[in-house]
Amino acid sequence: MPPADKSASTFKLGGRIVNRLGYGAMQLAGPRVFGPPKDRDSAVGVLRAAVASGVNHIDTSDYYGPHVTNQIIHEALHPYPEGLVIVTKVGARRGPDGSWHPAFSRAELTQAVHDNLRHLGVEALDVVNLRSMFDIHHPAEGSLEAPLTALADLKRQGLVRHIGLSNVTRAQIAQGRQICAIDCVQNQYNLVQRADDALIDELAREGIAYVPFFPLGGFTPLQSSTLTEVAGRLGATPMQVALAWLLRRSANILLIPGTSSAAHLRENLSAGALELPATELSALNGIAA
Ligand SMILES: NC(=O)c1ccc[n+]([C@@H]2O[C@H](COP(=O)([O-])OP(=O)(O)OC[C@H]3O[C@@H](n4cnc5c(N)ncnc54)[C@H](OP(=O)(O)O)[C@@H]3O)[C@@H](O)[C@H]2O)c1
Repeated sequence: MPPADKSASTFKLGGRIVNRLGYGAMQLAGPRVFGPPKDRDSAVGVLRAAVASGVNHIDTSDYYGPHVTNQIIHEALHPYPEGLVIVTKVGARRGPDGSWHPAFSRAELTQAVHDNLRHLGVEALDVVNLRSMFDIHHPAEGSLEAPLTALADLKRQGLVRHIGLSNVTRAQIAQGRQICAIDCVQNQYNLVQRADDALIDELAREGIAYVPFFPLGGFTPLQSSTLTEVAGRLGATPMQVALAWLLRRSANILLIPGTSSAAHLRENLSAGALELPATELSALNGIAA
């Protein structure tokens, strides 16, 4: 496949064309992604503002809250506008104290798909990522054959339209592609965390979307004097520059920055218009080194 244009504003996901600037809904649950948010009306408002501004790709999971984030998405946006792609993920469950545990059995995955369907209020899920949990924080080797086969069966039943993988290694992606079509990969990646550099380029050649989680650093927001200096010279914020850099990094990168703030949402969505001159790009490329 010829390399796609990095300045393009769209890419394919879930069998549709989506804007590369999407929205990650994890920040809409309570502290530590557990329980309800402080201000539910504001969470509903952020989602509506995102869609009104052209976002047609929302990332979520029923284990955010748990259930809370999907219920807020339903309240804010159902019936969903034509063309909106909602991507969810399965493979984990929450303990009563908010802890995260693997939930990889066929029964747990089936339950998770049905929970997502019910809370989002849809008959089929656009895209479901299987979230690997061999190591909760990083991709770690381990067979995904059994859980992915179970998910592929749910796809055959018509409950899932497309399947993706999250927190995975190159070997797991190769294994997954033997079992079913893999629509997207969602791993941690940003200006500073660049372990997936080669993988992104490989997926781009295959036309597979790469959706970095923690694009702004997640729970530890990105901090770099170079980033701050570049942002100052461009009259932008560091977060806008971090997002603009990701858009320029590869045409198959789709962004899902998370925010509970309408002001941050506006700031993040305008990153698509930010030009990065070659000198600034090379300064930014040096941050991870
Ligand atoms: N597959 C996985 O394992 C996995 C793991 C984690 C996340 N995700 C997905 O990835 C999405 C993105 O990750 P994330 O939300 O954890 O991290 P992120 O997008 O890297 O950063 C979110 C953090 O940055 C802050 N923020 C956002 N915009 C900002 C701005 N313009 N200026 C200053 N601060 C800003 C947010 O606070 P405010 O709310 O105050 O703006 C929040 O604390 C999630 O929503 C989720 O859908 C997937």
